[in-house]
Amino acid sequence: MFNIVLFGPPGAGKGTQAVKLAVAYNLEHLSTGDILRAEMSKNSPLGQKVKNLIEKGELVPDETVISIIGEKLRNAGNVVGFIFDGFPRTVEQAKALDKMLADEALEIAVMITLEVEENELIERIRLRGESSGRTDDSDTSIIKNRIRVYNEQTATVADYYKNQGKYVPVSNMGTIDETFSLLASEIDRRLQIAIKS
Ligand code: C5P
Ligand code: MG
Repeated sequence: MFNIVLFGPPGAGKGTQAVKLAVAYNLEHLSTGDILRAEMSKNSPLGQKVKNLIEKGELVPDETVISIIGEKLRNAGNVVGFIFDGFPRTVEQAKALDKMLADEALEIAVMITLEVEENELIERIRLRGESSGRTDDSDTSIIKNRIRVYNEQTATVADYYKNQGKYVPVSNMGTIDETFSLLASEIDRRLQIAIKS
């Protein structure tokens, strides 16, 4: 299997690129944000539990998102690999992911961080809010809180993967297609190595 973590701050373009990569490489796209929002729209017990945190731009507890991902991994069946989008968001989550994968003799091949300047992030999220209807994308103070939470609790996840030699930064200041090409060449290079070894 070939498993990718697509990392970066809110509004960096993880979801957009993950969908395209999932199609191109036949990977299963796992977005914890999408899963949590689907639970919220169903008004399920889980959705009710996380609604307040998501609407404030705070993180859902580690054990909640870890168990969501654990269930997805167990029920995945025969897939080529996963692309994780919006997870892990803490070092605890990254460690749990490694452990769950190791239990199946699997690992993360690469962690790619999408890099976008902060002013641009806020603009992109606000623009997305106009069409997505996401309340956490529409209010500037919530957007800023999400970026603060990223800087304080999530950015350090990059060091975890740097220590494993798996960290790859890619600029997403260009167009969607330009960034996709950059991502594809990073992935292709590693796939070649994976096939040869
Ligand atoms: O990944 P995305 O930006 O779509 O996530 C939306 C919200 O879902 C986050 O702002 C956060 O409140 C919550 N979330 C979380 N932990 C994750 C993924 C998402 O708390 N691992
Ligand atoms: Mg997203």
